[in-house]
Amino acid sequence: MSTAHQKRFGPRRAGTRIRKVIAAAAVGAMTAGGLVAATGTASAQTSLGDAAEAQGRYFGVAVAVDRLGEPDYTATLNREFNSVTAENSWKWESLQPSPGYFDFSTADRIAEHARQQGMELRGHTLVWHSQLPSWVENIGSADELRAVMNNHITTVMEHYKGQISSWDVVNEAYEDGSSGARRNSVFQRVIGNSWIEEAFRTAREVDPDATLCYNDYNTDAWNTAKTQAVYNMVADFVSRGVPIDCVGFQAHFNSGNPVPENYHQTLQNFADLGVEVQLTELDIAGWGDSQAEQYAGVTLACLAVAECTGITVWGVTDKYSWRAEDTPLLFDGDYNPKQAYYAVLETLGGSGGGGGGDDDDAACTVTYEEIQRWGDRFNGQVTVRAGDEAISSWSTTVTVHSSQKITATWNGDPSWDASGNVMTMRSNSGLPVGGQTSFGFTVMANGNWAAPILGSCVAS
Ligand code: XIL
Repeated sequence: MSTAHQKRFGPRRAGTRIRKVIAAAAVGAMTAGGLVAATGTASAQTSLGDAAEAQGRYFGVAVAVDRLGEPDYTATLNREFNSVTAENSWKWESLQPSPGYFDFSTADRIAEHARQQGMELRGHTLVWHSQLPSWVENIGSADELRAVMNNHITTVMEHYKGQISSWDVVNEAYEDGSSGARRNSVFQRVIGNSWIEEAFRTAREVDPDATLCYNDYNTDAWNTAKTQAVYNMVADFVSRGVPIDCVGFQAHFNSGNPVPENYHQTLQNFADLGVEVQLTELDIAGWGDSQAEQYAGVTLACLAVAECTGITVWGVTDKYSWRAEDTPLLFDGDYNPKQAYYAVLETLGGSGGGGGGDDDDAACTVTYEEIQRWGDRFNGQVTVRAGDEAISSWSTTVTVHSSQKITATWNGDPSWDASGNVMTMRSNSGLPVGGQTSFGFTVMANGNWAAPILGSCVAS
């Protein structure tokens, strides 16, 4: 367990301690309409991790090991977060791809990064039906599968013993929909109902200091069959002394699975069973105000529940999100903090943030996309986004290649250099914080279909 974790939570299961910290911070007021305000007492923390820590919580992120070599990625990770989860490299298929062959080399890079940065580590995940190698899927004997499952848990937890704050011991064991049934995984089919508690008992024996979590998605709205089924399992475990410390709510939200009105109530109901709750894989599809409001609401729900010990977002930047088309994260593809970022930071009682001050030119950004193509020409579109300050005007350049020619433009005020290849596009209408607009143009290709080159965005 990291020093940071011990400082914040003490040894495993620090529910009462957390409760005191939060009561003192007086967060969250509620009305019939839901949560309306947070008045955290933390003074001007400028990163998510620091602001969360001032509220007695962690703010974590899922990390893709291959991206650690990208300077902006690592800078954002190191600046903003104080807890790390491996997005993929601690899953069974990565750690034990063939029977008895364990490869920790990639996984260890994440652990090492976290250690160097003094970040907590969440372990994700020990037993899951997905990203599971086929040699496990094909086991047909209960005794054999039990032994294989326990050996996987034991070997992986031994390897990281003492370094992990929380483990997702079992992930996604329930079906979606109205049945409330267990998912038809190889573990369920071959071992039967006892497999989940067996996994938890094994985990507790191996690392008695780690917080042991059951983790799942679509468990956010209180009245659904899946939420109820997971709740009943946890209640049963607690009443029978099966070692479970925590429930992880993945919290992947989109229009089909919106943030429920009474989210804090779901979290509180679980917490009332005597377990910690954690938001383990948060991402929310959208952009702008609506996304920011939802992020703030989720953050507030965690703050309102004393036993909600932290939030992990499922990636650093929209660019590498597993649902990139939903732009569901707190930083855009250029690592600019989004409105949602500021909403979370401020809900946690922080302010400023986003690395602001490092880069005075970052008041707007531009991205290019080809949106249509014909036999002789194509239409390009540039999206202009404001950062953490409203802007009153913007401009950028679009340089086409020598044989190409821009023949039409829309949504901006163009001017040209002497060569005719460099167009400067301006707008005198501004953008609000985190706001965006786009302009477009038609390019005659004349045999050259290369994308135009964008200059940087200049704002005032
Ligand atoms: C996802 C990763 O983000 C992807 O890169 C991978 O291809 C699939 O898994 N629930 C979980 C996570 O518990 O492990 C999943 O992560 C997302 C859903």
